[in-house]
Amino acid sequence: MTAKETKKLEANIKEAAKVLSQSALNVALTGAGISVESGIPDFRSPGGLWERYDIMEYGSISAFRNNPEKVWKMLAEIGDTIKDAKPNRAHKGVGQIEQIGLLHTVITQNIDNLHQEGGTTNVIEYHGNFKTLSCLACARTYGIEKVDSEMPPKCTCGEILKPDIIFFGEAIPPEALRDSYELASSCGGLLVIGTSAQVTPANTIPGIAKQAGAGIIEINVEPTHLTTLVTDIFLPGKAGEIVPKLVDAAKELVSQ
Ligand code: APR
Repeated sequence: MTAKETKKLEANIKEAAKVLSQSALNVALTGAGISVESGIPDFRSPGGLWERYDIMEYGSISAFRNNPEKVWKMLAEIGDTIKDAKPNRAHKGVGQIEQIGLLHTVITQNIDNLHQEGGTTNVIEYHGNFKTLSCLACARTYGIEKVDSEMPPKCTCGEILKPDIIFFGEAIPPEALRDSYELASSCGGLLVIGTSAQVTPANTIPGIAKQAGAGIIEINVEPTHLTTLVTDIFLPGKAGEIVPKLVDAAKELVSQ
């Protein structure tokens, strides 16, 4: 990055902090990119999950119901990366922005629980959470450690367990939709971190916030279709590098 680009980025980070400090209610929308620096590959970057597994053969609820043993081959890989993953500086930074009173809620598409472990208290999970598994036959639930005992993990009733995540073809939890739309349509600032915004309905949040007059701040290693469509301040770079700088700028404004 040239000195000029660095200067521009620093000015934009200050601008983004100002947007957050001047708004009564800010929300964040996050995707897999915020967890890449915790060792969890994302889905659509080169080498991402959907490059290695066919989304239709592994990512839908019908694929899981028809052949759970096969889908658990992919789920076991996800479970392995999530089990030992720790929140990175971006998750912790988002938690700090909440702590200084400049972030109301994180709406996440991620299933890794790292926002909660990174200190954020208000998290809306669009796609569920891999930390628990459920039985589709008898509704018993288990912790993720169940994957260590047998593969695919089975319920005491004999049925193969399903992680409590939302597959394609399943409904987003209605309360997640309701609460996130309410927040997006009344927020003054929306922080969009590490999402390609390819998947609906999560990718409608930035448009709803924009229509409500919110300032849209996007952090990503590369531009997305949001960048030209709705983003007001684009902060190019890794979330683990940009978010801590945003925290410092926000703390400076709050302390004034
Ligand atoms: N810092 C910031 N952004 C990053 C980083 C990083 N270190 N690494 C990758 N990114 C960006 C990529 O440029 C990309 O725009 O994160 C985004 C990740 O996009 P996807 O892999 O498509 O993940 P996501 O947007 O969360 O996908 C949404 O799709 O398959 C479903 O259920 C799955 O929740 C997922 C949904």
